[in-house]
Amino acid sequence: MTRATRGQFITFEGGEGTGKSTQIQRAAAYLRAKNVPVEVVREPGSTPEGEALRNLWNNPSTTASWEPLTEALLLFAARRTLLCRIIWPHLQQGTWVLCDRFYDSTLVYQGVLGGVDIEKLMQLKYLIMEDFEPDLTLLFDMPAQLALRRISKRQDIQHDGVIRYDTMALQLHEKIRQAYLQLADIFSFRARIVKARASADIVEQAVCTLLETHKETL
Ligand code: TMP
Repeated sequence: MTRATRGQFITFEGGEGTGKSTQIQRAAAYLRAKNVPVEVVREPGSTPEGEALRNLWNNPSTTASWEPLTEALLLFAARRTLLCRIIWPHLQQGTWVLCDRFYDSTLVYQGVLGGVDIEKLMQLKYLIMEDFEPDLTLLFDMPAQLALRRISKRQDIQHDGVIRYDTMALQLHEKIRQAYLQLADIFSFRARIVKARASADIVEQAVCTLLETHKETL
């Protein structure tokens, strides 16, 4: 199967409060309107195992005892089921898969934040997917202070996202931001930065332009 006929795997990354989960739905609607078949998935989640992990993640009495390496192992195990059952079969059929977080999140949260050796994480990455990589990664970037303000506004709202890191201090959000920017540099062959502080409509336009540019390369 050539690159043009298989589906494209596009990951949406960034810290909490950067709006990536809203934008993934808008991107899916944009592509569907152009007759591109699209599947949207999230991590952790989108398989029974992944959703169970998401539920565990939301329970501080469980996660408090997890070391970052344990977290990484659980995330990579759930990631493997997601790849085998949903992502790879859909790509083979020509469906584009939009994924809300992928292994870059593990490098940032369990690696840079949790202190797990990045080399170890890359070995786990290779174990479950060898050289498979996203075709495009959209990194939603905004000042940490602004992201925190957005998070505090939505805390009254019903939110089924993972809340564990929402309450972290500004310093940690800034660390996450810098780690993502560094990754964007390292993975410059696939990563594009989206300036996420603008209104949702303007950010959507930027995302759609990046998707169109990507389509032209196929
Ligand atoms: P969200 O997708 O609702 O933003 O929540 C996901 C949370 O899980 C977020 O705080 C980051 C965390 N996470 C990790 O720590 N490592 C990972 O590999 C993934 C996918 C998520």
